Amino acid sequence: MQYDILTEQARGILEAEPWYASAMSNLSALLMTSMDRLNWAGFYLVRNSGLTVGPFQGKPACIHIPVGKGVCGTAVQQDRTQLVPDVHAFPGHIACDSASASEIVIPIHCGGKVRAVLDIDSPVKGRFSAEDAAGLEGLVRLMEAKISWE
Ligand code: SME
Repeated sequence: MQYDILTEQARGILEAEPWYASAMSNLSALLMTSMDRLNWAGFYLVRNSGLTVGPFQGKPACIHIPVGKGVCGTAVQQDRTQLVPDVHAFPGHIACDSASASEIVIPIHCGGKVRAVLDIDSPVKGRFSAEDAAGLEGLVRLMEAKISWE
């Protein structure tokens, strides 16, 4: 995966319209069509002290996730990327799509606090490498710099 090219495409999306709903919609479409072996790519937003599903591509997903639950809720609680090679070995994993076998979740910040997460699922075990984590964290840093939450 060429993350330099993906990040430049993401920059184009964010600069055309930084409003989070439009930007996250197009970014989830960009990820889903650019990365191979995915079944879900999108965002959960921190809202009412939990997570609520935001723009995504893939099958309909769980709407609400409490902080501390599942891979997404753990990413928020620990404020750390979760690279999960086998979701069935992750305690408390929330199976929205039974096809999901591996997953990566990256916190997105605003004003020093976690405001959302990027969640990407794959039907293939061990799909995401440390290189994927670094490339996607770069994309999230760009989102943090460019996105408008209003
Ligand atoms: N598996 C996630 C739930 C969200 S879906 O993957 C879209 C989790 O455990 O947090």
